[in-house]
Amino acid sequence: MEEVLITNKKIFITGAAGFIGSNLVIELFNTQSPLTIIGIDSLNDYYDVSIKEWRLSEIQKCAEKHPDSTWTFIKGSITDKSLIDSIFHDYKPDIVVNLAAQAGVRYSITNPDAYIESNIIGFYNILEACRNHPVEHLVYASSSSVYGGNKKVPFSTDDKVDNPVSLYAATKKSNELMAHAYSKLYNIPSTGLRFFTVYGPAGRPDMAYFGFTNKLVNNETIKIFNYGNCKRDFTYVDDIVEGVKRVMMSPPEKKNGEDGLPVPPYKIYNIGNNNPENLLDFVQILSEELIRAGVLPKDYDFDAHKELVPMQPGDVPVTYADTSALEADFGFKPSTNLREGLRKFAEWYKNFYKI
Ligand SMILES: NC(=O)c1ccc[n+]([C@@H]2O[C@H](COP(=O)([O-])OP(=O)(O)OC[C@H]3O[C@@H](n4cnc5c(N)ncnc54)[C@H](O)[C@@H]3O)[C@@H](O)[C@H]2O)c1
Repeated sequence: MEEVLITNKKIFITGAAGFIGSNLVIELFNTQSPLTIIGIDSLNDYYDVSIKEWRLSEIQKCAEKHPDSTWTFIKGSITDKSLIDSIFHDYKPDIVVNLAAQAGVRYSITNPDAYIESNIIGFYNILEACRNHPVEHLVYASSSSVYGGNKKVPFSTDDKVDNPVSLYAATKKSNELMAHAYSKLYNIPSTGLRFFTVYGPAGRPDMAYFGFTNKLVNNETIKIFNYGNCKRDFTYVDDIVEGVKRVMMSPPEKKNGEDGLPVPPYKIYNIGNNNPENLLDFVQILSEELIRAGVLPKDYDFDAHKELVPMQPGDVPVTYADTSALEADFGFKPSTNLREGLRKFAEWYKNFYKI
């Protein structure tokens, strides 16, 4: 695959104050400067906004260390079509990374509107802007949730994924379909990335490891779904960001088919750890690392704080990424082990909440 340098490019990142987005901006400044990054985020209050503000302050500090690069932050929504169009008009980005979305499987059961607005209309606005102001590459977040109750493991991008079990998953699958149509019709190079349960410092408080930590700190009981018989391919955020960066550099090639019309420059990859962990082992390691970091006391009775409960609607029993295509095309595979990643999370948690 042809590799293009990101250095000196103009990059538009949506969801830049988000967990993955903020880490991506920092990684790009640290490794690809000089470059111009324009970030947008609505800073919505789906979870604690102070974490989003903290991430933005980390980006600001990092950008100041790279005076040859430019960081511009716009507070706004991708659902605002004229705003998105004006950003593309004014900045003419070369590469777009769409990470803004309403995330979370469970919340989509009670708040479907937020998913249709940000994930469907917002993504459509990004596609339209890419059509009207051509870009070299559109990279966008999909999700392992598109695999639904897929029984075959590991999950491959060749598997049929037409059975989503949440509206969140349905919106992510829709993004892949919409991107395909735009790639075909307007020859827009696009790559969709199916992320598998991303975790790490300054992660999302709505995700299990963060929620468990909050509960354990408050002496509450944590609920472990499906009686702990869940397996998740937990992926450390630095691995995700490294994968996104490599993908950004390699847009799918534009070429014409036998009919003389463009073959859509379109790709989908999994980015996951390729090593599913049992939920009970995961929380065991989490509790050990929380004790090690001093978030929980040394004599914390972990067993007294866990309750095994049935499966939740929208949940799936296992996620397991087949990453062979990522390895073949980019020579990269996530490698951070759970203890190492949870250690960094626990240390961040201790500092952030001043425990
Ligand atoms: N974290 C994971 O485990 C995971 C797994 C699979 C897919 N993903 C996807 O990766 C992307 C990034 O996820 P994340 O974990 O960083 O989530 P996040 O919620 O931390 O980041 C998303 C950011 O987008 C912003 N946002 C939401 N709607 C917006 C809108 N309409 N306009 C502008 N900004 C908006 C939010 O304020 C937030 O800061 C999302 O598309 C998510 O669906 C994440």
